[in-house]
Amino acid sequence: MAPSSAVDYGVYLVTDSTPAILGDKDLVDIVRQALRGGVTCVQYREKLTGDNHAAAIEKARKLHAVTKEAGVPLLINDHVDIAVEIGCEGVHIGQDDMGFEQARKLLGPDKIIGVTASSKEEALKACEMGADYLGIGTVYATATKKDTKSIIGTSGVRDILSAMVAAGYGHVRTVCIGGLNASNTAAVLAQSASPKKSLDGVAVVSAIVAADDPAAVSRDLLGQVIAARIPDVIKKVAETTPLSHNMTNLVVQNFAANVALAVGASPIMANYGEEASDLAKLGGALVVNMGTVTPDGLKNYKQALEAYNAAGRPVVLDPVGAGATSVRRDAVKQLLAAGRFAIIKGNEGEIQTVHGATIQQRGVDSTSSLSFDQKASLVSALARQRSSVVLLTGKTDLVSDGRRTFRVDNGHEMLGMITGTGCTLGTTVSAMAAVVPKGGDMLAAAVAGTAMFGVAAERAAGRPEVRGPGTFVPAFLDELYLIRKATAEGDLGWLTLVNVKAVEVSEQ
Ligand SMILES: *[C@@H]1O[C@H](CO)[C@@H](O)[C@H](O)[C@H]1NC(C)=O
Ligand SMILES: *[C@@H]1O[C@H](CO)[C@@H](O)[C@H](O)[C@H]1NC(C)=O
Repeated sequence: MAPSSAVDYGVYLVTDSTPAILGDKDLVDIVRQALRGGVTCVQYREKLTGDNHAAAIEKARKLHAVTKEAGVPLLINDHVDIAVEIGCEGVHIGQDDMGFEQARKLLGPDKIIGVTASSKEEALKACEMGADYLGIGTVYATATKKDTKSIIGTSGVRDILSAMVAAGYGHVRTVCIGGLNASNTAAVLAQSASPKKSLDGVAVVSAIVAADDPAAVSRDLLGQVIAARIPDVIKKVAETTPLSHNMTNLVVQNFAANVALAVGASPIMANYGEEASDLAKLGGALVVNMGTVTPDGLKNYKQALEAYNAAGRPVVLDPVGAGATSVRRDAVKQLLAAGRFAIIKGNEGEIQTVHGATIQQRGVDSTSSLSFDQKASLVSALARQRSSVVLLTGKTDLVSDGRRTFRVDNGHEMLGMITGTGCTLGTTVSAMAAVVPKGGDMLAAAVAGTAMFGVAAERAAGRPEVRGPGTFVPAFLDELYLIRKATAEGDLGWLTLVNVKAVEVSEQ
């Protein structure tokens, strides 16, 4: 299980066993379905009456088996003793529950302790005690939690997030709870974001537990949560101007550098491996683009890859034309053996080649042959195999970290009429990867770059002065720049054009 700093609180399921919500369904089965849909964290909440204690421990054990298999933490509401007994990942306690200190003593330093907060004072007190995350609410009145002290709405959540930042607790993770469902999650996440801090996710009860299809609702929520992370990534690129170190082919160097500048990164095109160990220390990301492969180039790539791995900085692999020749197939193998890639980006043929399929490719542009479901399985399988985020480009882009898989339906056919746009997407994504903190969401960064790129293309193509590829290029650079600028200033109107959804991946 990941350390508590790496927990994804995005879609946080809180169970409810009351007949009004659960009905006659089996809770373990509901949780299993929800995990399949993409729930990222589970809290087992049960009112103990005295005679159901043993049954609750038994249920908790069963739930833990299911969450462990999915690689998702299980937290126990209130009952620290049950968490200790079954050895799950932590607890969630209220302000009135058993003291934080005592919970920490019983659980040890590595377990997760979340605390409920419904006011700034409660939030800051919980942060001061050392809470790993806060459950902020109640956002809306609900039938599932009757003891709602206060309904604070999204403005109340925003005030709490601002107060946390002001008090130096901007790093403490947060979810909101109370009346969240698939109809209001996107709006709640947007409205509750303070200028310097957004929620990490939403805690959902009946919208999942009482659903006819818990997996479908979870997927819907997951798509909304990942979309809500897009502006923070782009804002951070705009604020920090990360280095995008591009080891490049010669075809579109100038275009790639201009795209990097437009999205707010600082480009450097440097192909000499010896330089990489110095450049890797500058807090940026490396793009290894295989557009032109030579023995010398490959040696430089490997050297740079090792330097960035050693510095803990992300590397994006763009295996251009990976399947086209045996030289390139071999180059892919050597690169994969030489180090770790945070993101692997390519078209269908390239991703298939990286996955080990030895398919013959004509030129560097692939022809489509896999069904959508097969592509979704492919990106998910490769992501798991390499522990990378995989981005498969096409009319619909697919992005996966092996557990969560998304489709991005943005972009414009004009992109296909210009050389190097695929490569510049790699540059864009590398800028986003560069601002992901340790344990942060690399998948959200890849989605953010892909969505920004696609929306910029749509807006550029729609401009009256754009009549073809020639006029499209400057308009596209302008739109990347304008989206970055607007996002940095908190104007998020362009997000309505983002089309990101979580997809179901069938077992292969
Ligand atoms: C979602 O939650 C809101 C607020 O609690 C509620 O008004 C709305 O009816 C819910 N929508 C659905 C589809 O359940
Ligand atoms: C880096 O720049 C080159 C242009 O030479 C481009 O072909 C290459 O794709 C870029 N790499 C990436 C992924 O940005």
